[in-house]
Amino acid sequence: MKSSANPFLSGNLAPVTEEVTETNLRVTGTLPPQLDGRYVRNGPNPYGAVNEEKYHWFSGDGMVHGIRIRDGKAEWYRNRWVREPRLAQKMGVEAPPSDWPADHNTFSANTNVVQHNGKTYAIVEAGAPPIELNFELDTVRISNLDGTLPMAFSAHPKRDPRTNELHVMTYWWGWGNQVQYVVVGADGRVSRTVDIPLPGGPMIHDISITEKYALVFDLPCVFNIEAAVNGAGLPYYWDNNYEARIGLLPRNGSAHDISWVTINSCYFFHPMNSYDLPDGRVVLDAARHPRMFDRERRGPSEGPPTLVRWILDPATGRATEEVLDDRAQEFPRIHEGLIGLPNRYGYAAGIAHGFSQDVLYKADLEKKTFTARNDAAQFGYGEPVFVPRSDAPVTPDNEDDGFVMALRQNLDSGLSELAIFDSRGFTDDPVAVVHLPVRVPNGFHGNWMPINQ
Ligand SMILES: [Fe+2]
Repeated sequence: MKSSANPFLSGNLAPVTEEVTETNLRVTGTLPPQLDGRYVRNGPNPYGAVNEEKYHWFSGDGMVHGIRIRDGKAEWYRNRWVREPRLAQKMGVEAPPSDWPADHNTFSANTNVVQHNGKTYAIVEAGAPPIELNFELDTVRISNLDGTLPMAFSAHPKRDPRTNELHVMTYWWGWGNQVQYVVVGADGRVSRTVDIPLPGGPMIHDISITEKYALVFDLPCVFNIEAAVNGAGLPYYWDNNYEARIGLLPRNGSAHDISWVTINSCYFFHPMNSYDLPDGRVVLDAARHPRMFDRERRGPSEGPPTLVRWILDPATGRATEEVLDDRAQEFPRIHEGLIGLPNRYGYAAGIAHGFSQDVLYKADLEKKTFTARNDAAQFGYGEPVFVPRSDAPVTPDNEDDGFVMALRQNLDSGLSELAIFDSRGFTDDPVAVVHLPVRVPNGFHGNWMPINQ
């Protein structure tokens, strides 16, 4: 692997240089026969030469990696750059069609990839639209969701399991001190938007929902015009003077209806989940960073992110804060049937030794116990994705009955694997490992995409 003075281009963050298609992958163990779909993950993978000094991890061209699983077999692996016009030009290929005017703000979507209403979208924050991919992960079009998306999307839609709607919080520097809440219906069309004025222009990476609210993460990493003028890869920096607060926007309300709750200064990209308490307060669990883009402005590295619970009280505007697990971790996930509803279990990737992720965690938030799976000498892991064992409705008895999927790099061979663990045997050997023909650089987010979703 290549080394670079920029840590976000070194080790397993170094990009790969080719698109690969490989069929009939080698599998050890037994792939659960009920798995019929794709595991797809997105991440930055700059094409061609980059300015190593200025390169920001979040700005690299997007590359998706996918594994098709059916009938107990791993049918294919594909990796594809997510094309937008400038990247297509660099690659010497035809630009994809766009639903937007030619001068619309667009860049390669590098952060997450989701399936909704039968379509696959590579997605990113900071003002760019979704990019539709086909089943084989080739770029289809730069999408405006059938003409319904006003402008920006986000890398983190939360799917309400009761309605199948996607809820996203979007931001773009060109809006000034305003963000926009967007709801996408089960039919793939935007059904509702709410403009939300704020004191500054925060980087809002994610959203959380409850049965009553959509949560607005107004945190002190904000747009910096000077950095933008100087060509920073991502012109959002820490601001000590910006108040950290969370807005509770009633799901059918407007910006005027938001209850703001102040929290201690911090930043988080990713909530694990949130839900309403019977007394009107709201539980929010998230991977809390002490700061963001303060001393290190090329990627997240401002002290360990830990799993923290806030209980937000809209009546008083105040919150309690409790560290649930003080070990460094990120990419928290849950059984997605419980998004916005009380959950007992969660999963996260440990962050150790710089940027390597050699530990996976399973949290039991009821007992407040945390099981660690540590493969430090052999493997580095990506985000763990929970896949229920069956389509049965989630209940307290079956919440953790399923599989945990994570890409990992075999440190001996340098190649990557998709490891599938039984959630109830979290520290046991994986039930199956799909061996990939290539290295998959550490990236951001992936999802299991069942064939019938
Ligand atoms: Fe993220």
